[in-house]
This record gives sequence, C-alpha cells and structure tokens, in this order.
Amino acid sequence: MNYALISENIKKQFKKSKRIVHALKGINLQIREGEIYGLLGPNGSGKSTFIRIASTLLIPDTGSIKIFGYDVVKEATKVQRLINRVSAEASFFKKLSAMENLLFAAGIHGISKKEALEKIYDISEKVGLDRKRLNDPLEDFSRGMQQKVAIARAFMTEPRLMLLDEPTTGLDPRAKREVQSLILQMRENMGATILLTTHDMEEAERLCDYVAIIHRGRIIIKGRTSELKTMIAHKVTNPTFEDVFMEFTGISFDEAEYEEAESA
Ligand SMILES: Nc1ncnc2c1ncn2[C@@H]1O[C@H](COP(=O)(O)OP(=O)(O)O)[C@@H](O)[C@H]1O
Ligand SMILES: [Mg+2]
Repeated sequence: MNYALISENIKKQFKKSKRIVHALKGINLQIREGEIYGLLGPNGSGKSTFIRIASTLLIPDTGSIKIFGYDVVKEATKVQRLINRVSAEASFFKKLSAMENLLFAAGIHGISKKEALEKIYDISEKVGLDRKRLNDPLEDFSRGMQQKVAIARAFMTEPRLMLLDEPTTGLDPRAKREVQSLILQMRENMGATILLTTHDMEEAERLCDYVAIIHRGRIIIKGRTSELKTMIAHKVTNPTFEDVFMEFTGISFDEAEYEEAESA
C-alpha cells in the first residue's frame, strides 16, 4: 500500500493575545494514494493549521508529516514539487485577466507557453468558461467561477497531492455543487490524491472516500465514509455525520461551530 501522506503526532500551539491556543493536539493520519480524504470539522477545529503544516507554510511544534516519503520540514523543497494548495479565498491578481493569471501560474511551474495555452483552453472547457472571457479581469468573475479557475489552475501543475482547504466555503448552493463536481472530475482525469477540509457534512459525504472528524485539535473518529455511519447504526436509525459527531463529542456540530465563534 502506498501512502500519499502520513502524519504522526502533529502538535501546534499559538499565542493568541495572552492565551495559548492548542490548535493541534497530536494528529495521526494515513492518506492512501488515489483517495479523496476529508478532514471534517467545525470552525476553529484546526483544519487550516494542519493544511498549512502539510504544505510547508508552517512548522509543527512536534511530530512529523511525510508526503510520498518526504518530510515536510526537512525536505520542504521536494514536497513543494509534489503538492499544490487551494484555499477558500482564491488568490489571484484580480485586475489581471484569467489568461494572464493562468499563464503566470504556468510560468512559475516551468510549463512552456505552448503547453500552457493548451492547458488553459482545456481548463476553460472543464470549468465552463467561454474562451472569450479568458481576457476579462478575474475580479469580474463570480466567486464560484473564480474558485473553479483556482482549482483547475492548481491541477494544471499536475500535483500528486492536492490540498483543498474549504474549497466551497462561502459559495451559494449552485456554485458549491459545481465546484464539487469539478473536484470529482479532476480526480478522475488527473488521478491525484486529494486532502480536502470542510465543515459541510454533506460535502464530506458526497466527495470523500475516507473521513477523519476533527474537533478542538483532535481526531475524534475516522473511517471510510460508509463505515463511519454504520458504526453507530445500532444506536441511531439512518445515522448522519451529524449523529456521528454528536456520539463522539457529546455536542452537536452547530454547537461546536458556535463555541469557536464565542472563544474567538
Ligand atoms: N496564526 C495564528 N495565531 C493565533 N491563533 C491561531 C493562528 N492560526 C490559527 N489559530 C487558532 O487555532 C485554532 C485552529 O484554527 P484553524 O486551524 O484556522 O481552524 P479551522 O481551519 O478548522 O477553522 C483556532 O482557535 C484559531 O483561532
Ligand atoms: Mg480553516
């Protein structure tokens, strides 16, 4: 069995005004190559902190993450060649056109202009963007379209592990479904492994092969998407992820989101 990512006992704390926040309290994950792995948790549970450590942007206090065998701290440059990351807020040069943004991304990844143009036309088709619109500034696009272009742009570099940090947060229901379909389509076409974070339980069910539920910096339960629900089937009929969360934390998912808003 090949693993795309192995995380062992990752801990990270922050100083927030005068308090110490234990954002991650010992995270262990094993992500198999080819799967879409969901890290599902309420706001403030530690998802982005984990993604930032995995993508070499942040150094853990203790523990290690290996991506295809490379250590994210000691072999950061090797890791960077194998991954790409998209966060909730797509980062673009908003005044520049879609074409310019995509050519720029291709350029920094050493893709030739000819190959880049082919990829860009392919991207516009996949995200349903009229070729004529490629020359419009990014800021004129809907949030949903911007997010789709960001995801397709990240796949353009053919990462072996794609890190998607809340890729659909803040989108309206229709844009959300379109972005989700694009993620599934990209996985089919590119064969990449995907680590996706979300606080949307339906999204985790729809997209993920495997889900780890995180709460207050700890993984409370993990398993195949279907198995997680059958685990509590003897207690709850037709269980949902909400029921699973409640069973293992004693509070509802909504309450957990509220709790974070209160402590912020
Ligand atoms: N740079 C930082 N400085 C201080 N606290 C932080 C920082 N980054 C994250 N945190 C805190 O760590 C906890 C986890 O945050 P985060 O990983 O962003 O959660 P999520 O992505 O699940 O919403 C939160 O309590 C957050 O306020
Ligand atoms: Mg986050």
